Amino acid sequence: MTVVIDPSFDPAPSLAHQTQVVLGSAADLDAAAARACFISAEGDLPSCECVSGLTRDELAAAGFTGKSGQTLRNPGDTLVVFVGAGKEPFTAATLRDAVANFTRAANESATLAIDLGGVIAAGLDAREAALAATEGAILARYRFEPLKSEAKNVLIETLTIAVAEGDREAAQQGIDRGLVLARIAGLARDLGNAPGRHLNAVNLADLAVKLGGQTGLEVEVFDRAAIMELGLGGLLGVNAGSAEEPRMVKLRYTPEGATDATPHLALVGKGIMFDSGGISLKPTHAMGSMKMDMMGAGAVLASMTALSELGTTSIVTGWMMCTDNMLSGNATKVGDVLTIRGGKTVEVKNTDAEGRLVLADGIVLATEEAHRPDAIVDIATLTGNAMMALGLGTAATLANNDQIAAQLATAAEVTDERVWRLPLDDRYREQLKSNIADLSNIGGTYAGAITAALFLNEFVDDVPWGHIDIAATMEVERDDVWRSNGSTGFGARLLAEFATAFEKPSQD
Ligand code: BES
Ligand code: MN
Ligand code: ZN
Repeated sequence: MTVVIDPSFDPAPSLAHQTQVVLGSAADLDAAAARACFISAEGDLPSCECVSGLTRDELAAAGFTGKSGQTLRNPGDTLVVFVGAGKEPFTAATLRDAVANFTRAANESATLAIDLGGVIAAGLDAREAALAATEGAILARYRFEPLKSEAKNVLIETLTIAVAEGDREAAQQGIDRGLVLARIAGLARDLGNAPGRHLNAVNLADLAVKLGGQTGLEVEVFDRAAIMELGLGGLLGVNAGSAEEPRMVKLRYTPEGATDATPHLALVGKGIMFDSGGISLKPTHAMGSMKMDMMGAGAVLASMTALSELGTTSIVTGWMMCTDNMLSGNATKVGDVLTIRGGKTVEVKNTDAEGRLVLADGIVLATEEAHRPDAIVDIATLTGNAMMALGLGTAATLANNDQIAAQLATAAEVTDERVWRLPLDDRYREQLKSNIADLSNIGGTYAGAITAALFLNEFVDDVPWGHIDIAATMEVERDDVWRSNGSTGFGARLLAEFATAFEKPSQD
């Protein structure tokens, strides 16, 4: 094939930069180019010297009242950014947002400083505060620039965080964890932002081999021949119209001392490198972001590169189901019937409902493992309907097990990658009937996020299972606190947190 891209393109550019996050005392803050000064919307101004001499009236005259979301720059030897803290004491989530707002307001500064003393004194746990601040700063400064001839973004060289002497140890733990989580979210964003031509299934598998090797994972790559050998009819059917080979990547994290009794979690990710819709071609406006249709697989890979550093104690197996969904003379036709691994047949009534086809193969493989997983979680940019139902800020979860749903909700709360559970309502199952096959791959006009999950449920073989539909949350079209315009990397932090806290659901 003609080379139309620079062969030296690095699909994970954000891994090349490491922000230093250091603990300091209040005295170190002025050494930075910019520092934050949190100001709440009511009560006295803080007693720190960066506000000394100023009154609320003067700040208000400049348009700053302390409302959350507001920032006001006060230039000097050190740029002081007043950051609205709202009326409530900070939670981890609102602190992450406030630090992101600070970072954006100081976007020309490579050295930043934040005093968390007051925030911690007001009740926020020191570890959580340092974690959220680390994430908020690094994620807000993210930009995807390898394809610009001139990079403009000033990366953060050093972030200084001041805490009281007695909180240093806890804060350091938060920083260490925040650095890992920010790194994997950046990696997932890189993968989402990379165009389909720059990151195809083969490239992503190669990257998984490289990153897995660096982070203590076993990585197995399945090429087209191996995929045929395994009988992955869903993945092959979606790939049929493509000029590029599919890949399945199996990742395995095994904690030290693991035995057959160690909890085992399986993660399955939709890796559609570009979703044209296939023969059921998408209209132009709906195709614009479809290079990000691999964010499920991206989140699986990115999250798993963190497990060893996070000290995860469960065995985690990842299945990345990667291909693009293209149309050609070879493409799957509407009405074709595919045989998923394990033998169930599916009538493809719409080639644009392709994610569930590749996920089905992955889910079946996960259920077949000798050490059967205690839970399977799949993650996928699966349905436009999930966006309709919950809007752009929240991913849909569905599950056959309340404990898995609850563990996902907890991880979502901790990471502020929000989810909301939809019902896996069996009564809609009949919408998936096919006249000539076991199942149809579409479920009709209504409740498309639910019927998609009901389709997947046909393959989970009663293993406790959760499903995360991230279609709505894969991208933002403008900067939104710590989410930078473009791919959000949604799911990487969520899955890392979920896997690290994972507990086997009890029998019933
Ligand atoms: N990748 C899309 C879903 C999607 C839409 C993700 C918008 C992100 C943003 C998926 O493959 C798809 O096309 N789903 C169809 C299913 C339908 C044909 C049953 C959809 O949602 O329209
Ligand atoms: Mn599609
Ligand atoms: Zn898709």
